[in-house]
Amino acid sequence: MKPETTDSALATSKGTSVETDQADKRRGKCLVSRRDFLLTAGLATFTVMVTLNAGTPRAQQVPAAVATYPRKLIAKLSQLKVDRPVDFTYPDEGAYSESMVVKLGVQAGGGIGPDSDVVAFNYTCTHQGGPMSGTYKAADKALGPCPLHLSTYDLTRHGILISGQAYQSLPQVLLELDGDDIYAVGIFGLVFGRFDNLQG
Ligand code: FES
Repeated sequence: MKPETTDSALATSKGTSVETDQADKRRGKCLVSRRDFLLTAGLATFTVMVTLNAGTPRAQQVPAAVATYPRKLIAKLSQLKVDRPVDFTYPDEGAYSESMVVKLGVQAGGGIGPDSDVVAFNYTCTHQGGPMSGTYKAADKALGPCPLHLSTYDLTRHGILISGQAYQSLPQVLLELDGDDIYAVGIFGLVFGRFDNLQG
């Protein structure tokens, strides 16, 4: 007959982590998830409202949890000209951090400012990392085509793909307006080449 497995037997066979887990459970203490661990480590999260299906009858505001990013001053609202992108790096100076902020002149998903038309995006194509700096198309309010395989992204609708080989939207840099100052405060979507946007 198979012997009954006890907590102590498990602790002996699998090491002290099991023993600690069991002890925590006996004391009624919850084990922390990775998210809670990151929170404990100071990498808190916050919630922002984003617009899904912007510009359509199905448009709706939904909450999105975002890991805490650096708050970086990237531009002055009064100095932005319609269809003239301004480059910056975010969330750090590492690989694939090149980004742009632009005043589209038309309302856009996630847009800030009096006309909700100022948006920011990462410059790196989500397909295979093609650099898209300098490819902004004013007529279409789009970024692209990518120089590698021609993917083009709609900047009025959270960077969704218009055409090309990519299958993920372009990461959108979340913005905050404080007086005339525009701050980058997060990223919606995963930057190409990173397993975590904050691990550049
Ligand atoms: S890398 Fe941009 S479309 Fe392939």
